[in-house]
Amino acid sequence: MSIRKLYIETYGCQMNVVDSEVVAAILQQQHYQLTEEMDEADLILINTCSIRDHAEQRIRSRLKELKRVKQKNAGTAVGVIGCMAERLKENLLEEEPLVDLVVGPDAYRELPALLEQVENGQKGIDTLLSTKETYGDINPVRMDKNHVTSFVSIMRGCNNFCSYCVVPGTRGRERSRDPESIMKEAGSLFENGYRELTLLGQNVNSYRWEQGASPVRFEQLLAMVAGIDPMLRVRFATSHPKDMSDDLLQVMARHQNLCRSIHLPVQSGSTKVLDRMKRKYTAEHYMDRIEAIRKHLPGASISTDIIAGFCGETEDDHLQTLSLMEWVGYDFSFMFKYSERPGTFAARSYKDDVPAEVKTRRLNEIIDLQTKLSLHSKEKDVGQVFEVLVEGTSKKSDEKLYGRSSQNKVVVFPRGNLKPGDYTHVKISGCTSATLIGES
Ligand code: SAH
Ligand code: SF4
Ligand code: F3S
Repeated sequence: MSIRKLYIETYGCQMNVVDSEVVAAILQQQHYQLTEEMDEADLILINTCSIRDHAEQRIRSRLKELKRVKQKNAGTAVGVIGCMAERLKENLLEEEPLVDLVVGPDAYRELPALLEQVENGQKGIDTLLSTKETYGDINPVRMDKNHVTSFVSIMRGCNNFCSYCVVPGTRGRERSRDPESIMKEAGSLFENGYRELTLLGQNVNSYRWEQGASPVRFEQLLAMVAGIDPMLRVRFATSHPKDMSDDLLQVMARHQNLCRSIHLPVQSGSTKVLDRMKRKYTAEHYMDRIEAIRKHLPGASISTDIIAGFCGETEDDHLQTLSLMEWVGYDFSFMFKYSERPGTFAARSYKDDVPAEVKTRRLNEIIDLQTKLSLHSKEKDVGQVFEVLVEGTSKKSDEKLYGRSSQNKVVVFPRGNLKPGDYTHVKISGCTSATLIGES
């Protein structure tokens, strides 16, 4: 079989990054080789995200741009994979005539058969979700640029059904991956020079493997991965506030290589709004979890996700979000305007009633506050020394390297004799709201 070229473009979350690597591995078996040049590809795959309307619109306009490639090379096949494929199914083939292939997140093993159909002039589609698929036996083809940090998927899907969210619909039911295959992948990444792994799932706290002699919970899995080598840093995302246990924090406290940084999406500071979001916790419970983090892991950084302008959000609810942000003193946040998603509980049951200009104003207030908090979080570090894992050359200067502290803050510092994958201690001499600046 002759070699064919595959170009993959990935949108959305880190799960999609790993999925693209799984897809590359499946297609490698079919003699597809990765290319970074779209124009020379025999197959273009767009791995898509549906989380907000804006994410889908970006992909739609990207698909329009692909017309040019198809005009030049009529033989190039175009596939839409991932969450938008799952959400829109055959409608995508009707709405976007240049698309040949639509494949949902649990159907990637069907790609070879579907591509055969496309070669025979048909369209290929498979959007079946699975309750078991974890791609556990597939060794992803790594596409990261630095060969130091990588992601490892430990579970798929989500059972939480937050009322605003498409993920349970696009990714299906939650299932955990066999710990043996996780350990094998993590161990081989370490042997190949990787020094930091992020374990991925929509709600890692509910990881559970029950098919072995004794069940493995997330805390145990984390301790197992941390035990591979003290030189391997381990992070994880995402934790759900309702399931974030003291046990987990105690395990983290025992292992120095479990990074001192926790991403704990709050979404809103108002219990009333959290209830409508079906998040299953109150603002008080969330604050209790933050206190537990502070107690078990002093100095850990805390980041979050926030949605501005959810259905029925009043000015008072919004003020509660701002005051919670201030109380926690987040080191970093991802901040979004609520975007109504078809088919979700919120779309069916509530009115998207916060006017667009109010959403924008509230989001801007949240962003302004976070910029202030981010700057404060960096200023606290000036004068201190941090262990930094070197990731690569700084974008702004060849003389400088960048890496991250255990607290997940980016540090830029003089190159010296260091190279990516090395650990070094850096004294912080200055900062911006996004970066720590270090001396040698
Ligand atoms: N599983 C993770 C995150 C999944 S999506 C969790 O539960 O935290 C990442 C973030 O996108 C969410 O935390 C939320 O802040 C945001 N998001 C999800 N659906 C959204 C919507 N309809 N509109 C705006 N933001 C949304
Ligand atoms: Fe979406 Fe909630 Fe699941 Fe996160 S936990 S993926 S926000 S439904
Ligand atoms: Fe987007 Fe799907 Fe991830 S909707 S955020 S790519 S799980």
